[in-house]
Amino acid sequence: MTSTVRGVIARGKGEPVEITSVVVPDPGPGEALVRIQACGVCHTDLHYREGGIGDDFPYLLGHEAAGVVEATGDGETRLAPGDFVILNWRAVCGQCRACRRGRPWYCFSTHNARQQMTLSDGTPLSPALGIGAFAEKTLVAAGQCTKVDPAVPPEVAGLLGCGVMAGLGAALNTAPVTRGDTVAVIGCGGVGDAAVLGARLAGAAAIIAVDIDPRKLEWAREFGATHVVNSRETDPVARIQQLTDGNGADVVIEAIGRPETYQQAFYARDLAGTVVLVGVPTPEMRLELPLLDFFGRGGALKSSWYGDCLPERDFPLLTGLYLQGRLPLDKFVSETIALEAVEDAFAKMARGEVLRSVVKL
Ligand SMILES: NC(=O)c1ccc[n+]([C@@H]2O[C@H](COP(=O)([O-])OP(=O)(O)OC[C@H]3O[C@@H](n4cnc5c(N)ncnc54)[C@H](O)[C@@H]3O)[C@@H](O)[C@H]2O)c1
Ligand SMILES: [Zn+2]
Ligand SMILES: [Zn+2]
Repeated sequence: MTSTVRGVIARGKGEPVEITSVVVPDPGPGEALVRIQACGVCHTDLHYREGGIGDDFPYLLGHEAAGVVEATGDGETRLAPGDFVILNWRAVCGQCRACRRGRPWYCFSTHNARQQMTLSDGTPLSPALGIGAFAEKTLVAAGQCTKVDPAVPPEVAGLLGCGVMAGLGAALNTAPVTRGDTVAVIGCGGVGDAAVLGARLAGAAAIIAVDIDPRKLEWAREFGATHVVNSRETDPVARIQQLTDGNGADVVIEAIGRPETYQQAFYARDLAGTVVLVGVPTPEMRLELPLLDFFGRGGALKSSWYGDCLPERDFPLLTGLYLQGRLPLDKFVSETIALEAVEDAFAKMARGEVLRSVVKL
């Protein structure tokens, strides 16, 4: 059996997205069919549309989602129809060398559904990040579903499925920021602002937000930035040093993915400080720096995949904090939109008008 639903696909590089019929197989063993309730529009969906991630068109876009399990494959014991879940794009295998060494957030063998979703003519679809949630229903691996409290609105819960988790986790898990640290965040979109929020949650002594868009800096203040720097007007390295007694920040989080902003992060940290790269660079980007500076400045240079999160640990924890009023995740939802408005939401993202547009189904 299959279901036929509406979904948003990217047919070719740079072509506007379109809504079409998507055929979704019933779940086999280890799979789950999920009725999507909300899915955020992430920069990565735009990367897919632009051919920046691969050439496996057509893509079924959307990967920052929450919904309700409709059916599970035979033998499923952990999930049941009716469960409210957040989808994740790193379902941990438990078997690979990272998992076996007790570091499952690095899992080198994450998995997705085995069966393929298709167009009506049978053309296989590539689901974005193995999810494909700009659709009424999607098929994922059961391990991609994490149950959370259904009291959380789906448009809020879904954001933990990608950008907000990546930013929070860059601060809380990868760095990790500890009480009293000085922190700078370069790039204050959805991911950077989540890093600001994570730094506040961890008890940072100062949080310096850097962006080139004054509107983004205003929002960063609302998430907990204690200082803001417009790097179009002010040298961010000098300013961050000035704000930290001339030393530089203990932790600098780069949430853009560009060599020049990485370089700013590298020099804006204190001796023995930590740089976390959570922004995703493109293949042609290069960085050239004196090797002596790597040695002489010491510390740690880290990358953050999905905020080094463990969905089963972090999603219930963070939704719990949200429900207690301690984590204003709803502030990331700039607007809720229909499936038809995804293309328009890409344009708003490019113009910097939103932190997150969220499709509500
Ligand atoms: N590591 C992960 O697991 C992960 C997960 C999700 C997203 N990402 C990546 O994180 C990055 C940010 O995503 P987002 O959704 O927040 O994007 P976004 O477009 O909403 O935000 C980017 C921000 O950077 C600012 N900016 C751009 N150029 C700048 C410059 N030169 N100096 C200072 N600020 C500048 C923009 O004004 C904007 O506020 C992207 O590269 C995305 O692909 C990574
Ligand atoms: Zn693994
Ligand atoms: Zn994403």
